[in-house]
Amino acid sequence: MAKVAIMGFGTVGSGVYEIIRTNAGKLAQNAGDTVELKYILDIRDFPDHPKKELFTKDFNDILNDEEVTVVAEVMGGLHPAYEFTKSLLLAGKSVVTSNKELVATYGTELLEIARNKNVNYMFEASVGGGIPIIRPIHQCLTANNITKIAGILNGTTNYILYQMITNGKSFDTALKNAQDNGYAERNPAADIEGHDACRKIAILASLASREAVDYSDIPTEGIVGITLDDVKYASELDCVIKLIGYAEFMDGKVYSIVAPMLVKKTDPLSGVNDVFNAIKVTGDCVGDVMFYGAGAGKLPTASAVVADIVDSVKHKVRSKKFTWYKPETDIMAGKDAKKFEYFIRTGDSIENVKKSFGEITHTDSISAGELAFVTRPLTASEVEAKSKELSDIMTCIRILD
Ligand code: HSE
Repeated sequence: MAKVAIMGFGTVGSGVYEIIRTNAGKLAQNAGDTVELKYILDIRDFPDHPKKELFTKDFNDILNDEEVTVVAEVMGGLHPAYEFTKSLLLAGKSVVTSNKELVATYGTELLEIARNKNVNYMFEASVGGGIPIIRPIHQCLTANNITKIAGILNGTTNYILYQMITNGKSFDTALKNAQDNGYAERNPAADIEGHDACRKIAILASLASREAVDYSDIPTEGIVGITLDDVKYASELDCVIKLIGYAEFMDGKVYSIVAPMLVKKTDPLSGVNDVFNAIKVTGDCVGDVMFYGAGAGKLPTASAVVADIVDSVKHKVRSKKFTWYKPETDIMAGKDAKKFEYFIRTGDSIENVKKSFGEITHTDSISAGELAFVTRPLTASEVEAKSKELSDIMTCIRILD
């Protein structure tokens, strides 16, 4: 019998509890052993919970119990999740997590400890909620050089954009709905300012390149400035606006960015709506493959956490190495390594636009006194310099190629 513990009884933790109880037979079959929950760590009281005897507020109960071999860290945040995870790995226990902040920040160190201790540190739930993406990149696509990853990695922002576009809801109402549904982070700024998606693309880029990509090196823009007019222009251009986490692997370097982008309606990412996430991965042998599903929410995220528990129980002797290493040199490509076409709205004249940007594709204006156009492919520095020559830029959004 494998004894496991859950740290954190919030949305995901309660989902993990539910799946372990309701799918016990299935888990035992797949793990080759019964999975028994021995502790739930949380600082709050749950006096009416039917299994209240499982609850503890003392981390040492889990750390010092030799019977516990696998721990699900679903507390979120960096501290004390980092200290707890490190202690557990050093004590020879496997840890599985949905905590993308922790994996993106301390993953390199925690993975090294797991390798040295021959235990597992697994994080399938940290990117894309219930979507299998860590194993596919690590295992199924292992024959490929991954050349590109483009993903809708944040359910909350995708939900907000979809509600704005389809139901005409205001940004604030859509955000409130996302919070009520348990999709948003405790501090939703992490969602709407793009930081959550940034951590997720850093994890995927690290896994694909096998070298740690520091999330703080990834330029990140959120969706706060996106207006209903931007959404309408996008539609005129046969596009939709999505928050995209992007990584391209070029000659040993990684170019990465998180930003709202116009996605052409011919791109399958354009049809990913509501709280759903999707990750399009390009490999040099396989071409494009796309992974789609619920990117946030209790049971979808818990489904991935429990899969890691089962895998850790199965691989308690020979650990699985979903891993990356600290690079010896700077692996980040500069911000000008990649050119995008840009969609721009300005209050300036067509003469000035043409003088600065040269060849453009002109789009019909929605409001009087403004011009909307699409540039030829430009680097970030080029678009910055040309934009400075115009008097009034309202919107400047990349177009995903
Ligand atoms: N706040 C995150 C999202 C939760 O909206 O995608 C899942 O990581």
